[in-house]
Amino acid sequence: MSPNFSVILIYVVLIPAMCMKVVLDIDPGIDDAIELLLALNNPDLEILAVTTVSGNVSLRKATTNALRIIEAIGRSVPVYAGAAKPLRKNPVRARSIHGNDGLGETDLPLPTRKPEKGGAASMLLHLLTTHRKKEISILATGPLTNIGSLFNKDPSLAKDLSIFVMGGIYDQAMRGNVSKYAEFNFYVDPDAADIVMSSGASIVVSGLDITTDPNCAVGSEMFPKICSSKTATAQVACKILSYPMRKFGHFHLHDVFALFSLLHPEIFGMERHGVRVDTKKSRGRCLITPEGNVQVCKKVNHRMFNRYLLSGL
Ligand code: RIB
Ligand code: CA
Repeated sequence: MSPNFSVILIYVVLIPAMCMKVVLDIDPGIDDAIELLLALNNPDLEILAVTTVSGNVSLRKATTNALRIIEAIGRSVPVYAGAAKPLRKNPVRARSIHGNDGLGETDLPLPTRKPEKGGAASMLLHLLTTHRKKEISILATGPLTNIGSLFNKDPSLAKDLSIFVMGGIYDQAMRGNVSKYAEFNFYVDPDAADIVMSSGASIVVSGLDITTDPNCAVGSEMFPKICSSKTATAQVACKILSYPMRKFGHFHLHDVFALFSLLHPEIFGMERHGVRVDTKKSRGRCLITPEGNVQVCKKVNHRMFNRYLLSGL
């Protein structure tokens, strides 16, 4: 086989075949933004699409922010706008954490591109019906409204999907960040969270009990290291993180845990559980049973987490 042909074979056939095909379902949001930058920069991922959902900020702002981040590093991954409100509840925002624009009031230019026509639900349906079973993974790090409505339309899709989620709390001693028992993503849309977590899809979930590990937070040691890196992704991350660093002195990269549980599962200790989500009395609270199909991330090797964070930007 001539050298040229083997090079073509590698770049046209083998590398794409080795890449993990993913969809990012996000509500950017500062930690979603860092997750998106890391995913865009990772050669092992083929990002088929980014879908946005109402959460930290409105759907319009989340969609604009996804486009801003992608363009800021010169990429053109397609973005599809998803749900503008939860399945049943009223929207809840997190402006005090992420700033009015949702990206830490950065001066990142507004996007020149628009979101794709058709919206998130029909695009997800199209992708799942045109790819092999389990070929696509979804990284779901906002309220689960888009995926919940997909499974409402066709519950049978769940068995073909791997979903890496940031949401919930899996240590009953841990207090929520929205109410005593609830984490933000599951609080905003508990109905969608319950549908997804009990759907039978192959799920790996990182909850607030692990994502608030102080050894994995961006603080006075990690922030300067990110800002001193010369890559475009690190420079955009530095800009976005400077807002919470000024305001809080540290920042938890909740959504990066979901990405790393896909890319680097070996740095996590996981337990298998059944998970349902309370939609009534304690809105967003996780109801955990000993047996089930959800892999819950309980421990993380924070040295490796921080190494992958820096090397990934
Ligand atoms: O509770 C943390 C989660 O809520 C993160 O996904 C953050 O971006 C917000 O959406
Ligand atoms: Ca998020």
